[in-house]
Amino acid sequence: MEFKNRDIISIKDFSREEILHIVKTAKKFIPFARGKKYSDVLKGKILTSLFFEPSTRTRLSFESAMHRLGGSVISVAEPTTSSVKKGETLSDTIRMADSYSDVIVLRHSQEGAARLAAEFAEHPVVNAGDGAGHHPTQCLLDLFTILSEKKKIDGLNIVLLGDLKYGRTVHSLAYALALFGANLTFVSPKTLEMPREVVKECKDVGIEPKSTTVLEKAIKDADVLYVTRIQKERFPDPEEYSRVASSYRVDLNLLSKAPKDMIIMHPLPRVAEIAPEVDKTPNAVYFKQAFNGIPVRMAILYLILRGE
Ligand code: NCD
Repeated sequence: MEFKNRDIISIKDFSREEILHIVKTAKKFIPFARGKKYSDVLKGKILTSLFFEPSTRTRLSFESAMHRLGGSVISVAEPTTSSVKKGETLSDTIRMADSYSDVIVLRHSQEGAARLAAEFAEHPVVNAGDGAGHHPTQCLLDLFTILSEKKKIDGLNIVLLGDLKYGRTVHSLAYALALFGANLTFVSPKTLEMPREVVKECKDVGIEPKSTTVLEKAIKDADVLYVTRIQKERFPDPEEYSRVASSYRVDLNLLSKAPKDMIIMHPLPRVAEIAPEVDKTPNAVYFKQAFNGIPVRMAILYLILRGE
């Protein structure tokens, strides 16, 4: 297993063993993530965060992870304040960031942007979301959360709900869950179904996902319900968005039809797809899931920068 200097572009670049190693390392970082212990293992290292699309959790948790391990951060959180506004190409921006720091965390609206950036950077590039493509670090924290809550993934019934067409988190997660042997059910409006290539990737690792538009039926024997936001910003036509905007809502009434111990996850931000009344139930783990982003991103940074 070699992590040093490794780019994190797609979860498909990682084996089960490597994923489990990241999860195991993340567990050790929990007290550091909570600020109960302090470490300076990344002292002297600089992270550039380049976010060309909105973000709260991903950017802040990467930055918090870096600071809590003694490293520092330089960032472009608003593209209008960087030379991108003047027409600078992504490759030139990346070359600069690469010469100023030890690792680049990039969020971009174009699929494939992180892969391209990695070609121009000598230091590792971490994909923090490339358009409707992938979101591998979210995937790692999602797997970490399921393993913490359910102690296994193999054989679990997992429902992925919402915008499966444009949602990058579910593109990464569906494949990874299939790799770990979960039974998958995809629930979405007809027009927002999981892309065929993701379904094929699941089949290639031995899982045949089910697909439906009916949520009530799908959650009857679910262990995990993973809810996603309809990705308004990716719709070419606003009319089309308004047709599907309120297709599903997870509320207490729906929850009464699910197994008592089904957990509800969401990468956040949520809009209206989970009613606030659900937050207080023991089923809701989405805020814990968001916290898990810190130890998981600590583990990622530690492994790629220190290689241990
Ligand atoms: C997700 C994203 O950016 O893809 N957010 C996140 O990173 N936690 C999900 C979303 O925006 O709906």
